[in-house]
Amino acid sequence: MSLRRPAKDQPDNFEFNSSSLEVANSMVAKYPKGKQQSAVMALLYIAQKQNNNWIPLAAMKYIAKFLDMPYIKVYEVATFYSMYNLSPVGKYFIQVCTTTPCMIRGAYKLVDVCKKKISKNENNISKDGKSSWTEVECLGACVNAPMIQINEDYFEDLDPEKLNNIIDKIKDDVTLKPGSYRGRTNSEPENIRKTLLGNKNA
Ligand code: FES
Repeated sequence: MSLRRPAKDQPDNFEFNSSSLEVANSMVAKYPKGKQQSAVMALLYIAQKQNNNWIPLAAMKYIAKFLDMPYIKVYEVATFYSMYNLSPVGKYFIQVCTTTPCMIRGAYKLVDVCKKKISKNENNISKDGKSSWTEVECLGACVNAPMIQINEDYFEDLDPEKLNNIIDKIKDDVTLKPGSYRGRTNSEPENIRKTLLGNKNA
């Protein structure tokens, strides 16, 4: 698991723009009166989306006021969950799952590709400013291991060559098809296997 710390360079202020404000108010309205603090995770996500995929401390303070709750409680939530980015990330933020199923299927070879093609150390933005990468725990797509997440999409059944190609394409802003890169539909068995006793080595 990577070390997560708030960025050293922080903006002084943050506030929701009009479209974020509209979504935030609709989220808060889902909770009973007096329970608005339950919207904290949704509001952090809205702030992250508005702010180029990371959450500054000023946004946590703003959300604390917005929900009338202590800043430290918002900070605790934002720093606990790895899906909240506490420092700037690349336009294409690559999360490489290195938990056991992905690890034994070659996840660390994917990490090597990220180190070579993006930045030597995780959470550093590439020289062209286009991408950054980090290691994460299981993303829930183990059956298609090894896999990565780029922004909101999953890319599965990968190997170093396929990841190389993916990174080359995102550098050129090519829109990529998410899902399996071994031609599977979702997580269907390979070789048209239908039962556990079907084709061998499927
Ligand atoms: S172990 Fe990688 S997605 Fe679950």
